[in-house]
Amino acid sequence: MNKISFVFRNKIQTIDFKESKFTPNSTLLEYIRSNQKTKGTKEGCNEGDCGACTVVLIEKNDNQIKFRAINSCVMFLPSIHGKQILTIEDLGTLNKLHPIQQIFIDEHASQCGFCTPGFIMALFAQKADKINSSKSELVEAVSGNLCRCTGYQPIVNSAQEISKITDLQLFNTFLREDLIDKINKSDTIFINKDIFKFFIPFSLKEALKLKAENKNAILTSGSTDLVLKVTKRKEPIEEIIDISSIQEIQGILETKDEFIIGAGTKIEDIYQFSKENLPALSNMLAYFGAKQIRNRATIGGNIATASPIGDFLPVLFAYKAKIVISGKNERTVDVNNFVTGYRQTILNPDELIKNIIIPKFSPNQIIKSYKISKRLNLDISTVSAGFNLIVDKNNNVSDILLAFGGMAEMTKRAKKTENFMLNKEFNEENIVMASKILLTEFTPISDARSSKEARSIMAKNLLIKFYQETK
Ligand SMILES: Cc1cc2nc3c(=O)[nH]c(=O)nc-3n(C[C@H](O)[C@H](O)[C@H](O)COP(=O)(O)OP(=O)(O)OC[C@H]3O[C@@H](n4cnc5c(N)ncnc54)[C@H](O)[C@@H]3O)c2cc1C
Ligand code: FES
Ligand code: FES
Repeated sequence: MNKISFVFRNKIQTIDFKESKFTPNSTLLEYIRSNQKTKGTKEGCNEGDCGACTVVLIEKNDNQIKFRAINSCVMFLPSIHGKQILTIEDLGTLNKLHPIQQIFIDEHASQCGFCTPGFIMALFAQKADKINSSKSELVEAVSGNLCRCTGYQPIVNSAQEISKITDLQLFNTFLREDLIDKINKSDTIFINKDIFKFFIPFSLKEALKLKAENKNAILTSGSTDLVLKVTKRKEPIEEIIDISSIQEIQGILETKDEFIIGAGTKIEDIYQFSKENLPALSNMLAYFGAKQIRNRATIGGNIATASPIGDFLPVLFAYKAKIVISGKNERTVDVNNFVTGYRQTILNPDELIKNIIIPKFSPNQIIKSYKISKRLNLDISTVSAGFNLIVDKNNNVSDILLAFGGMAEMTKRAKKTENFMLNKEFNEENIVMASKILLTEFTPISDARSSKEARSIMAKNLLIKFYQETK
């Protein structure tokens, strides 16, 4: 009760929230920086956008060890329970630097040094996870890290040199599996301090019981969305149920007819899986946040936010996905019917998303996704789309689904355009007509990302692009 334990600085550390200055709303970054000996982890943006606070999180699930780079500023402190963290201070000493640190010096990849610990930890995690990572994989691993003074070429040169390291022991030596194993990961954690309550259940049954008993409690999974309410909007969240330690809602199961994705599955894991199995999803996830965000954020958290510019919903529409909801009973709904309005869903207060089911598709279905954003990485969509098309042997459209994000208060299908295209020949003339209908179908808003006129043109152009790519 009131305590969490985790491995840090080669020891099991325990925080007793009753005694500690931290609250369950504190972030992992606040904890790390409160320690005089671990100030190397920096605070830049405090919202997951710069990578300065990157640390390595080591998790053990189903007897598998995983090293992940994460942004410590977007993680609630209690969520670290049962895990190990490595910061830049763990890697090397002034007399004996870690090879990645030495390469940064040799390649002149650091000037003021503010961003450097974040870059090094991101690269360390990538190599620890995959020792034969290529230069491009290493560069992708730091796509969420910003540097304002060195210039990126020396950092890219470092990635090239780091790709040549082959000794896994240079990474595994930091793992303290013996200590991770000693931490209890089966009894629900309950922290009650001042106005705050924070629960960490380890089973779905327990989570549902807690949700039913604590009607005001807010669920969190990766917390990449929820934590910003505290850190940016300065709104404390009094009751939280952290479902990120529930194994039953994590992982991907492939059956004969479908892919069943646990709601708590990390987006990075879905991205890696989708590269071979679900190309339209992989295309979308390649530009989802950056690796540190994908390493924590979950699919369940993404669709539960019902954000009109969330990346999953348009592509899940295109895959005709289903959502399994657990509560007193279990129900399965079409993704089409899950969101009811601006950030509103059909979820009842005692329910949570358990799985997302993507039915296997036939080879004649053409499924594609598109994301338009101001920059490639670490940017949310201005307009996004997921399309599903079947053309018969006479080149007529026999089935069509056109879903758009960023064009309305929620992900929406362009029903009038779909109706126009259905049973018509899939040719340029009809696409031009369809794109004119599409221009009138939505009334998007203007905001910092785009004017409403530009949004409409982008949607229209995506349809034309889709035709060009598939005709
Ligand atoms: C720097 C940065 C970049 C980002 N980039 C993108 C991007 O490119 N594209 C994009 O779409 N989003 C992006 N996001 C938003 C966010 O990362 C995603 O929406 C993410 O998928 C949320 O998942 P989470 O597990 O972190 O959710 P959390 O923050 O834990 O929760 C979000 C909401 O979902 C609810 N919830 C969580 N899990 C469940 C469940 N199983 N059942 C019911 N409710 C649940 C919570 O109660 C909460 O209301 C970004 C965020 C940051 C900080
Ligand atoms: S401080 Fe910028 S990502 Fe955490
Ligand atoms: S070295 Fe100064 S910000 Fe990167």
